[in-house]
Parts: sequence; C-alpha cells; structure tokens
Amino acid sequence: MKVILIGYMASGKSTIGKHLASKMLLPFIDLDDYIEAQEKTTISDIFKIKGEVYFRLKENEYLQKLLNSSNKFILSLGGGTPCYANNMELITHNINTTSFYLKASIITLVNRLKLEKEHRPLVKDLSDDDMMEFVAKHVFERQYFYNKSNIKLDINDKSIEDIVLEIENNLN
Ligand code: S3P
Repeated sequence: MKVILIGYMASGKSTIGKHLASKMLLPFIDLDDYIEAQEKTTISDIFKIKGEVYFRLKENEYLQKLLNSSNKFILSLGGGTPCYANNMELITHNINTTSFYLKASIITLVNRLKLEKEHRPLVKDLSDDDMMEFVAKHVFERQYFYNKSNIKLDINDKSIEDIVLEIENNLN
C-alpha cells in the first residue's frame, strides 16, 4: 500500500505523514527530503543554482522511482508536485495507491507561511501583505490538480490526531 499526501505548502503534509506512518507502522518519505538526499543539496539551492525547470524534472523522476518500487510507504509530496509533468496521472493510475488532498483555507495557509517562509523559495521574497494575494491565486490555479486526489479532506481547525484518524478510516 502507498499513501500519498497532497496539498499546498504549509498544509501539514509532512507533519501528518510522520504521525500517520508511525501509527500505521509504515515508512515515511517526504519527497522534498528524498530529492535533497539524492541530489546532495537543498531544495533552495536547487532552485537558486539549477533553476525550477531542473527541480521539476528531478521531482518527476524521483516520484516515478518511488511509485515503481514495490515498497509500502506514506509519501508527502511538495506543494507543486501534482501540478507538473504527468505526476497526477502517475499517482492516480498506480494500483494500491490512495491519494489524499489536505485542503486548508487560504487564511490558514497564509498564517502558517508567514512564520516559515525562509526555506520556501517560491514565497521567501514576498512581503506579508503580498502573501495573501499570491497564495489565493496560486491555490486557485493548483486546485484543479489537487482535486484529482482520491480523497479530499478539509483540515481547517482539526487536530493532527483527528486528521490521521480520518485518513485511516478512509483506507479501511
Ligand atoms: C513547492 C513546494 C515545496 C517544494 C518546493 C516547491 C511548490 O514543498 O517542493 O519549494 O511548488 O509549492 P512543500 O509543499 O513541502 O513546502
């Protein structure tokens, strides 16, 4: 079984993924961390030195590698992963794979991103005032892809435990 967590930056994919994995006794993989380990550099430096096109190419390559393995895991994607190349098709066509869209409101995302934008190349240069407009537009463009997930979960005002439980219930 492969469980894929999808959602915008700061929607809690990695946090939820870690909790879910330890509860289900499955390995947890964060695609960004996996890319950093394979490329031996940080996502910020990949964007800065090699550019976003190179990052999206590698993101697609490593996603395919993970999906083609016979391993079971909980995988959290980067916020942009579903929106590039054929990534969403790869996910939805993969047997034994269930994808969850962790859907957060713009306000929730913006409040979280304001506190932790340094290591996120796409928002690090935005002022707090510009963040709202940027995130609202970006989520609007991306939700077409996010909505191809098997299951959509509203995560606003829910505890980590509640979200993990909802995911587990949907897997049974
Ligand atoms: C990105 C989100 C990031 C990371 C990269 C690009 C995006 O992942 O993959 O900075 O396009 O939204 P997180 O969603 O884990 O921050």
